[in-house]
Amino acid sequence: MALLFSLFLLITTCIIFTTQAQTTVSNISLVSSLSPTGDSHWLSESGQFAFGFYPYGNGFAIGIWFQNIQPRTVVWTANRDETPFSSHATLLFNTEGRLVVQENQGREISIIGNASFASSASMLDTGNFVLFNSSSEIIWQSFDYPTDTILPGQRLSPGHRLVSDVSEANHTSGKFQIVMQPDGNLVQYPVGAVKHNTAYWSAGTFTAGDNVTMNLDNNGHLYLLNATGFIIKNFTETVSVSCDPIHRASIDADGIFRVYSHSSNQSGNWSIRWSSTENKCDPYGLCGVNSYCTLMDRNPICKCLPGFDFIDPDWTDSGCRRNYSEDACIRKDQNFEVQDMNSLSWEEDPYATFESISKDDCREECRRDCNCEVAIYKNLKQVCHKLKLPLRFGRRGTGGRVTTFVKIVTGFQTINEGRVKKSKLRMDFFITGIASLTVAFLVLALSGVIIYRHRIQQYKRISDQRDARFVEDVTLKSFTYEELKSATNNFRDSIGRGAYGTVFRGIISNGRRIVAIKRLERVVDDGERDFRNEMKAIGKTHHRNLVQLLGYCYDGTNRLLVYEYMKNGSLADFLFKSNLKINWEGRLAIILNIARGIFYLHEECHIQIIHCDIKPENILMDDKGHAKIADFGLAKLLLPNQSKTFTEIRGTRGYVAPEWHRNMPITAKADVYSFGVILFEIICCRRRTETNVPDNEAMLVDWVYDCFKANEVSKLVPEDEVDKKKLGRVVKVGLWCTQDEPSSRPSMKKVILMLEGTVNIADPPCPTSIVSSQSLE
Ligand SMILES: *[C@@H]1O[C@H](CO)[C@@H](O)[C@H](O)[C@H]1NC(C)=O
Ligand SMILES: *[C@@H]1O[C@H](CO)[C@@H](O)[C@H](O)[C@H]1NC(C)=O
Ligand SMILES: *[C@@H]1O[C@H](CO)[C@@H](O)[C@H](O)[C@H]1NC(C)=O
Ligand SMILES: *[C@@H]1O[C@H](CO)[C@@H](O)[C@H](O)[C@H]1NC(C)=O
Ligand SMILES: *[C@@H]1O[C@H](CO)[C@@H](O)[C@H](O)[C@H]1NC(C)=O
Ligand SMILES: *[C@@H]1O[C@H](CO)[C@@H](O)[C@H](O)[C@H]1NC(C)=O
Ligand SMILES: *[C@@H]1O[C@H](CO)[C@@H](O)[C@H](O)[C@H]1NC(C)=O
Ligand SMILES: *[C@@H]1O[C@H](CO)[C@@H](O)[C@H](O)[C@H]1NC(C)=O
Ligand SMILES: *[C@@H]1O[C@H](CO)[C@@H](O)[C@H](O)[C@H]1NC(C)=O
Ligand SMILES: *[C@@H]1O[C@H](CO)[C@@H](O)[C@H](O)[C@H]1NC(C)=O
Repeated sequence: MALLFSLFLLITTCIIFTTQAQTTVSNISLVSSLSPTGDSHWLSESGQFAFGFYPYGNGFAIGIWFQNIQPRTVVWTANRDETPFSSHATLLFNTEGRLVVQENQGREISIIGNASFASSASMLDTGNFVLFNSSSEIIWQSFDYPTDTILPGQRLSPGHRLVSDVSEANHTSGKFQIVMQPDGNLVQYPVGAVKHNTAYWSAGTFTAGDNVTMNLDNNGHLYLLNATGFIIKNFTETVSVSCDPIHRASIDADGIFRVYSHSSNQSGNWSIRWSSTENKCDPYGLCGVNSYCTLMDRNPICKCLPGFDFIDPDWTDSGCRRNYSEDACIRKDQNFEVQDMNSLSWEEDPYATFESISKDDCREECRRDCNCEVAIYKNLKQVCHKLKLPLRFGRRGTGGRVTTFVKIVTGFQTINEGRVKKSKLRMDFFITGIASLTVAFLVLALSGVIIYRHRIQQYKRISDQRDARFVEDVTLKSFTYEELKSATNNFRDSIGRGAYGTVFRGIISNGRRIVAIKRLERVVDDGERDFRNEMKAIGKTHHRNLVQLLGYCYDGTNRLLVYEYMKNGSLADFLFKSNLKINWEGRLAIILNIARGIFYLHEECHIQIIHCDIKPENILMDDKGHAKIADFGLAKLLLPNQSKTFTEIRGTRGYVAPEWHRNMPITAKADVYSFGVILFEIICCRRRTETNVPDNEAMLVDWVYDCFKANEVSKLVPEDEVDKKKLGRVVKVGLWCTQDEPSSRPSMKKVILMLEGTVNIADPPCPTSIVSSQSLE
């Protein structure tokens, strides 16, 4: 209360200082006009704001500016992306009540939308230019069409945005924007790239719901209001308001959103009250493609990657291109080297990713791959991404140990030069000798596997092409029914039953290999060819968190699948059978294993595979305790067309997403839901529904949310001592995944980032709170 009172005092003092200006009644009537020459403009009552022509480029523009502040600070520009007006133009508030500009030969340009039949206009003291109709109602106002600035009293409503200028002197729409999203979040993006991974700043308020607005008040206090008028976010400290009476908030040409204040003293300067970021390299896209931003004396400069030159040498944010003109693919007759650059970050859009790989192998992987132009290696995660140019959003010094490998052509091999260059190349290979050795060893190991498989799958041939991948070469073995019947000893040894059929233990390759053989039931028969194609698709998936398909049988009416055998059984046994408990850390690792497997199915293999039946029974444990997903790719076999809406619920009750019951199209987000349920089961070591517990704990998802709301998440885990922070994170991820609204659920990629702790996780809303457009995407 005391605070409010002192605020009030402060406000009134400030106001007393401001309103001492002379008055000009600003009621602009029909058939008024302005011309660029002679500095004619319409003033607001106190004389603080002016509307009219101002010199711009080689002509004039129409806009609103602070009349008492030098140099001129423009807060709004009409038709900012049009060419400047000539000095012969006239701005006319015509007899129809429209505001138009007449240039030579009577051509009229409507400057403020199509509002017509206004009967008067006014430049208000707030900086708002308004048109009134005959009943003095506002029918148009400049506050509704902000350019790059908002003023005190103006609000940015949902769906609206501010777009930066090209530069301080050029008011054309520039590269950056700040968007008041309908989901309640205030986010900064480069213009033309509104995706979750291109945001470079956000208020983090995406759970705030509809109708959140951004507001600036007379004290320079910038905040967000929700639909019921509560302040849900303060950006500026409300207590430390300055007595400078003049404020504005602008997204500057450098992409940073700032609140400025100014004294009423004309010769003063704008001072910064608040900035969305202090690091001037933060805005994505400040530097063009293939270049990165780095700070020099706290000012951003753009630098090209080695082997690249600026596209326009006079314009260092124009981006960079290779300093030679060959096509992108580095051919065998070119000499090239791979150069390391440390601590650069980029937008990551890899065409291939390798996990658990050393830095040298990553370099080598890129060197050998003609399509690889750049590779990014992350030391901590041991992940290697291979990318193609162009690279975007480059920045230096964002922490984390990241190495960027760039391939640089150092010359073209000619017949004469050949030997010299070759020996140089050989030197390179000596230098990376250890890496090569490692690779050689890997290749040996892989060949070992191949040979082994070759023996058991007699007809297979291995391509001798150097670049060809092991993965592509392995064809699935096709078995006859008789073969599998004898392998399973006439289907005696059943080891499980799933939605798709019964699983048997079997032995193939003359007793050398134990396999799991699944006899499918209820298969939609689309013919052998489709079945084979389906099998091939599944057979091509290779990931350490997926159970590998080895072969299949299509014989008469029999459909069988042959998988690698996982002798430790399913995750369900470990979770729900008391004698097989896994500790907390182990359970967290399993959650990540499953997430990675699903991510691979959704985004990393050649076709997207939606699993549709993710549950603990379908997660198998290998002998090292790693989890592998089974039964993927089968949903499609059971129903003719997966892209259409399912008419019958395919998954297992309790794990299936709500959209199955609502007859909505099934997307990958259905798997995300099931993943969320499993995640809870894994951390709590109990089933999703339980009868011998108190009523409020019976439904696991509800109970988790209750505990989360009550800040009592440690009740969820059986252990006494677990890492609170990690637990909180995992619980939040699960709650996001189990949102009723599919679009609110994160992608598996995002799930992994959240689990790993590389991104912050907002507090999830109640999973059953229908339907907002918000999401983590
Ligand atoms: C502006 O002036 C006209 C005519 O003098 C009057 O009818 C109208 O109400 C005035 N409008 C405002 C907003 O003061
Ligand atoms: C402003 O920049 C745009 C694009 O960069 C350019 O086309 C335009 O001519 C510039 N206008 C002025 C007035 O400098
Ligand atoms: C104005 O009207 C024209 C034609 O009726 C239309 O094409 C244009 O989009 C309108 N402009 C605005 C800003 O509404
Ligand atoms: C003036 O505008 C208001 C709001 O748009 C409208 O309700 C009113 O009917 C208009 N008055 C006239 C005379 O057009
Ligand atoms: C948001 O605003 C729109 C239009 O003003 C209104 O129809 C809607 O009910 C509002 N939503 C909430 C949650 O207040
Ligand atoms: C606005 O925020 C207040 C306080 O956080 C909250 O009680 C209220 O429900 C919110 N209103 C809406 C419409 O979300
Ligand atoms: C924002 O500041 C106001 C005034 O100081 C205060 O009442 C309110 O609780 C703050 N809101 C948040 C979300 O920090
Ligand atoms: C305005 O600023 C100038 C230069 O800093 C100073 O000389 C002058 O006294 C100031 N005027 C007021 C009213 O503060
Ligand atoms: C305003 O900024 C200019 C240039 O940075 C500086 O020379 C001048 O002294 C500043 N004026 C005031 C009143 O701070
Ligand atoms: C391109 O740049 C690389 C590395 O800076 C250099 O070795 C090479 O000679 C350059 N090539 C040309 C054609 O300028």
